Amino acid sequence: SFRRSSTSTRQSRHHTQEQSVHNSLQSRTDTIRHRSSARAMDGRKQVVLYPSPGMGHLVSMIELGKVLAARGLAITIVIVSLPFVDTSARGPFLAGVTAANPSISFHCFPQVEVPPLDSDHPEAVTYEVAGLSIPHLRGFLAGASSAVLVVDFFCSIALDVAAELGVHGYCFFTSAAEALAFFLYLPVLHARSAASFREMGEELVHVPGIPVLPATHFPKPLMDRDDPAYRWSLRVSPDLCRSQGIIVNTFRSLEPRAVDAISAGLCTPPGLPTPPVYCIGPLIKSEEVGVKRGHECLAWLDMQPTASVVFLCFGSLGVFDARQIREVAIGLEASGKRFLWVVRSPPNDDPAKKFEEPPEPDLDALLPEGFLERTKGTGLVVKSWAPQRDVLAHGAVGGFVTHCGWNSVLEAVMAGVPMLAWPLYAEQRMNRVFLEEELGLAVAMDGYDKEVVEADQVASKVRWLIDSDGGRVLRERTMAAMRRAKEALVEGGESNLTLTRLVEGWMLP
Ligand SMILES: *[C@@H]1O[C@H](CO)[C@@H](O)[C@H](O)[C@H]1NC(C)=O
Repeated sequence: SFRRSSTSTRQSRHHTQEQSVHNSLQSRTDTIRHRSSARAMDGRKQVVLYPSPGMGHLVSMIELGKVLAARGLAITIVIVSLPFVDTSARGPFLAGVTAANPSISFHCFPQVEVPPLDSDHPEAVTYEVAGLSIPHLRGFLAGASSAVLVVDFFCSIALDVAAELGVHGYCFFTSAAEALAFFLYLPVLHARSAASFREMGEELVHVPGIPVLPATHFPKPLMDRDDPAYRWSLRVSPDLCRSQGIIVNTFRSLEPRAVDAISAGLCTPPGLPTPPVYCIGPLIKSEEVGVKRGHECLAWLDMQPTASVVFLCFGSLGVFDARQIREVAIGLEASGKRFLWVVRSPPNDDPAKKFEEPPEPDLDALLPEGFLERTKGTGLVVKSWAPQRDVLAHGAVGGFVTHCGWNSVLEAVMAGVPMLAWPLYAEQRMNRVFLEEELGLAVAMDGYDKEVVEADQVASKVRWLIDSDGGRVLRERTMAAMRRAKEALVEGGESNLTLTRLVEGWMLP
């Protein structure tokens, strides 16, 4: 809960870590800032990207930075830190990005003091930090001679500053166009009923351009109208509608119905303009950072037959309790199929440690007795992390059990790997519906919304995906989506042309 004050020892420790990243980046930033204004005098247009601090959001914003840099723009990415996330590991990662892409630099904002909030959702803090960082952004933009500001969804409040300073303001939406349709339409749903989504429960909600959804499937921070996270989310749509455009990490032919509904103004709240929508994706991580530890599993995959392995990985925040881990283990063993499984430590019961990096999992304690020996020939368990993009791209992988985070979905699409959907948080339950009912690229792992997904369900879905005709059809559909994704990105493809159209507008004097 974020009802606590922001001065606990845990948070001040993180503060110190953040401070050291901040300091290590600061000296570099100063020189870089100097250089970018020189570049602006070169005639190079400078673009400021403002991601929200979550790793998934940061990674996709960096990928956007790379494609913009490849079009001749100078990119500065603003880094803000959250009081409860340990971002100290990001220093070397960011330095590596700049080393490989000299046109991309980073600028760290000082950490802000977040007052206690009446919310249990980290999203509330993310919004709050963006609001509190406004003075830093204003100061930075005023001195940066930048023509364009691109902000993450959670930083939409920053679009006000762009308007105020006469800078072109855009949003970069890092999830599906279908999720965007929902968020744009949220003020309409709000006005239509006095009930919170929690009270609406299983009631079906209609949003133009996307499948009907029960209110229970909306993101948890939106469940209660009184929650600050809800109130912040409600203002995103008007902010986006008044922007110069929304850049979406998708490609139109993946989600044509949603993209066309948004563009036609069907999702826009009454009285607001409809901004242009630019589908420029899929942008996925172009290389893995710290692949070293992953070599083990890539070497193991080299020895497995084509499309025979199910890969289970649930993102940087996805954790299961000990009971769920055992059910998965029993199910995988019973399936008799090959698997590569990333196991993370169960969540810490101590709420004060909720956001700390968990320790390495104790596999002997978590897995059923003898599991590792018995499955030696068919499975590999890796602790905490695997190079997901490279694993998915490996020909031996025939299925992906995923939390449906959008970056993971796009990586699976780009690799042509069909999905078993096991949504956990954020907009992932909506993504499950989109993937299963609209795009036909996934089948749900039943029980994800109950207390536990049972071993039988894991075994039968894994067998279905790898062995059945239904699984084969799903794989073929995913391969077709992969081909369309690649066509979108090549010279003259829909995403390539859209990006050209966007950037040409910025290049005008
Ligand atoms: C996309 O288009 C631009 C210019 O129109 C070009 O420079 C770029 O290399 C193209 N291709 C890819 C694969 O990005």
